[in-house]
Amino acid sequence: MFPTKARMDMVDDNSRSADSIVTIQQHIIENQGRHPTATGQFSWLLSGITLACKIIASYVRRAGLIDVLGATDETNVQGEVVQKLDQIANDTLMKALGYREDVGIIASEEDNEPRVLQEVGRGRYVVMFDPLDGSSNIDANVPVGTIFTIFQRPEWDRQAVYSVIQPGYQQVAAGYVVYGSSTVMVYTTGNGVHMFTLDPQFGAFLLTRQNIQIPQRGNQYSVNEAYSHSFPEPYQKYLSWAKDQDNGGRCSSRYIGSLVADFHRILLKGGVFLYPPTDKNPEGKLRLMYEANPLAFIAEQAGGMATDGRQRILEVQPRTLHQRTPLIIGSRDNVEDVHRFIREHEETQRANHPRRRATDKLATS
Ligand code: AHG
Ligand code: MN
Ligand code: MN
Repeated sequence: MFPTKARMDMVDDNSRSADSIVTIQQHIIENQGRHPTATGQFSWLLSGITLACKIIASYVRRAGLIDVLGATDETNVQGEVVQKLDQIANDTLMKALGYREDVGIIASEEDNEPRVLQEVGRGRYVVMFDPLDGSSNIDANVPVGTIFTIFQRPEWDRQAVYSVIQPGYQQVAAGYVVYGSSTVMVYTTGNGVHMFTLDPQFGAFLLTRQNIQIPQRGNQYSVNEAYSHSFPEPYQKYLSWAKDQDNGGRCSSRYIGSLVADFHRILLKGGVFLYPPTDKNPEGKLRLMYEANPLAFIAEQAGGMATDGRQRILEVQPRTLHQRTPLIIGSRDNVEDVHRFIREHEETQRANHPRRRATDKLATS
């Protein structure tokens, strides 16, 4: 009945029989016991997200058969055309979470403003999401996803202003769903990264991998190289090096154009995803709160790294809700490679700075 062999290979928790069937709800409840501050409401909240994602998956699966493909005539706060499925996914998440007791604030990539649902003291959690990531791919049957993150709402923040711009290290949970050849959900509550696969026959997310560790090095980079002429120089140099067979780079390239799917591949196979600053998007294109933070939390929990080229994504203090950021994320060694090029570039810049040259001259004369 179940693909028992696959499950036996994948489930690697010794405390559990290899044959056991573990649903995501069960896993969340078990994990919650390890968090002194978590309440039953927290697992209830997460189950709202899994429910919404199952509903979204059912729309994605039927795309083409029901009227969900194509664009609406709206543009969102990001200045991007809203696809029908963006709207469906957003509404579904709002409906699934809107009545969960502990949800205080919901913020979505698709909405201008956060929605404050409950007063401080009652709604303990802030939930943020990118309801449909990679939505421009949807018409072509390419994997898309949902990304979410949860913060605790500070008791003192009556106006909800600070609750929605907390730095990523404050996340209490984060995860994503990829609606691909199968539907998988990956999540962390700061206690490892775990993956579940939606069994369409039962409508349940079943545990397929526990404690995922991203390979320390991978041989793939993932970047929209068509923009490389407008990347800052160190990124261009990194890409030339990464392709150069003689230099030890030896990388191949994969780019789906749905961050969530590109990241998922890197989580499992290793490598690095880059979205550097470009002429069009000098701050980078990806959104700090909805995309970079949750994936950075997962990457670090899996032993990987995520930075904006200068600092850990999780330490960036956001200034605004919809702020964008450059993103370098993936295997530790690959991210370090990119950083080496950025560091070397900065050192050369400093050495060539006219004032520095003058002081050097003085020092040696
Ligand atoms: P979204 O569909 O949520 O707006 O996100 C799209 C993002 C991300 O998924 C992807 O990595 C990136 O846009 C692709 O951008 P380019 O087309 O500029 O490569
Ligand atoms: Mn997105
Ligand atoms: Mn989106």
